[in-house]
Amino acid sequence: TVRRLAAPDIQSRKGKEPLVCLTAYDAPTAALLDEHCDLLLVGDSVGMVVHGLPNTVGVTLEMMILHGQAVMRGAKRAMVVVDMPFGSYEGGKELAYQNCARVMKETGAQGVKLESGPTVPQTIAYLVERGIPVMGHVGLRPQAVLTEGGFKAKGKTEDERLRVMAEAEATADAGAFAVVIEGVAEGLAGEITRAITVPTVGIGASAECDGQILVTPDMLGLFDWTPKFVRRYGDMRGHILSGVASYAEDVRARRFPAEVETYFSRKPVAS
Ligand code: KIV
Ligand code: NA
Repeated sequence: TVRRLAAPDIQSRKGKEPLVCLTAYDAPTAALLDEHCDLLLVGDSVGMVVHGLPNTVGVTLEMMILHGQAVMRGAKRAMVVVDMPFGSYEGGKELAYQNCARVMKETGAQGVKLESGPTVPQTIAYLVERGIPVMGHVGLRPQAVLTEGGFKAKGKTEDERLRVMAEAEATADAGAFAVVIEGVAEGLAGEITRAITVPTVGIGASAECDGQILVTPDMLGLFDWTPKFVRRYGDMRGHILSGVASYAEDVRARRFPAEVETYFSRKPVAS
């Protein structure tokens, strides 16, 4: 059996080979991604890219647990990290501990991720002291979409850069094993990466990070629109549309199923 990577393996990669990370939400996709990735994140982006929600605010702990269980069944080698959804950790350290412990017990994942706004580092310290490996997430924090009035890149002003840097440092000091940096202006991710001793994993944050992550359906081309920072490595949308169009034509023309696709088909008897 292959040994699964865990928080210390990821943490010790700082300054070495870049960390390859992607999001995963289901078992068969996780099994494929596992062949090439160091870390699979069961992102709360599942709410948007799988469940059709407008943002991640409506994602529940139960959704994260179900998808976390599926990803754990599919992936054998990559570290699996589950996002804590909106409302499951901001209300206090004890609440956060109860919910994170439940996610770890019910999914078997090796860690959780929390969006680390100003008050969250204290919670991260509390969790790490009690045996929960935590990944932080600074910069653009999608769960803050309603107070921010949209998904907005951070670090355009000096004030904002200092704030994101302070949050990243507090997150690392609290004991996070790695920090996601999302949607920050040029140069800032590099400054953070040089300032903290744990790996940074960038999304829309430049190649200066210690690793990269993307939302898998975005990078594989499932949608007709993708944000600026996404590079498309596939055309899932085109594959699905052309495959389904061919199937529809075949069904309508009664070309599918054929004899070879039928059970116990009787070969025509020559007489
Ligand atoms: O939910 C998610 O997919 C994420 C990554 C994009 C970092 O948080
Ligand atoms: Na997320």
